[in-house]
Amino acid sequence: MDATNTSDGRRAALAARYGADAVPPAGPWNATLDLLAAHRSVRAFTDEPLAAGTVETLVAAAQSAATSSNMQLWSVIAVTNPATKALLGEVAHHQKHVPQAPLVLVFLADLSRAARLGAAESMRLEGLDYLESFVVAAMDAAIAAQNAVVAAESLGLGTVYLGAIRNDPAQVAAALKLPAGAMAVVGLVVGHIAQPGTVKPRLAQAAVLHRETYQVPDEAKLRADYDRTLAAFWEGQGRPATGWTQAVKERLGSVAGMHGRHRLREILQTLGFPLR
Ligand SMILES: Cc1cc2nc3c(=O)[nH]c(=O)nc-3n(C[C@H](O)[C@H](O)[C@H](O)COP(=O)(O)O)c2cc1C
Repeated sequence: MDATNTSDGRRAALAARYGADAVPPAGPWNATLDLLAAHRSVRAFTDEPLAAGTVETLVAAAQSAATSSNMQLWSVIAVTNPATKALLGEVAHHQKHVPQAPLVLVFLADLSRAARLGAAESMRLEGLDYLESFVVAAMDAAIAAQNAVVAAESLGLGTVYLGAIRNDPAQVAAALKLPAGAMAVVGLVVGHIAQPGTVKPRLAQAAVLHRETYQVPDEAKLRADYDRTLAAFWEGQGRPATGWTQAVKERLGSVAGMHGRHRLREILQTLGFPLR
């Protein structure tokens, strides 16, 4: 990727990210920021295999991420088996691009390794029983996964997250033979790009950036502006011109919209997370 060191290049990258009317003021910029600003999820992959060592490279990037107290309460399962990829795609609401791609990295919140450490040291690690430990493990897994995304994109590969594997964590745990205390938080589909996708605009910075303390901005205006920007984006993709407000209402407006994920607490308890 070319570095857009010029102010024009930086402006173009930010205009794609925010829409032309919501470009934030100029600041420092470099090739890494170009890569980050150009992120888009990819949902169409070729059948070209990944270069040898790609999994190890992506995992090295993932393990280079910060991790809470260096406890490294996460693991990853590299899935290439077509039947397992197909199952993950099915659990994730029939996402067809999943079996298409050569690799799915399943990132786990993994307290089981620490539990085994405790057992080997004849010590029950009480702290593992608490919600805090699950949150730490889930954050570790997500932060590691995002490093893998950036690494893959830097290599010219496409990725898309697969949060929808949480539609049925128990089925995923059984398929991947997860021990108690490990839960698949998110999948990451990785492959060579068949259709590159387009940068999807985000909310204006004024909607998310607070200075010193939280101050609710003029959200009605920010939302209306973003509804228009996002609707135009979808129209450009040949899709219904749905605004953001409508999308959030559909996603969060009913328990049905959660596709089974409303049962997460009880399922986690069956998977070995007491969540005290
Ligand atoms: C935790 C997480 C879970 C996601 N799960 C899915 C998913 O199951 N299927 C999918 O197609 N996209 C999934 N996505 C991708 C988002 O839909 C996508 O990032 C968002 O629409 C913004 O688009 P962009 O990534 O192209 O900028 C997920 C993203 C995140 C961060």
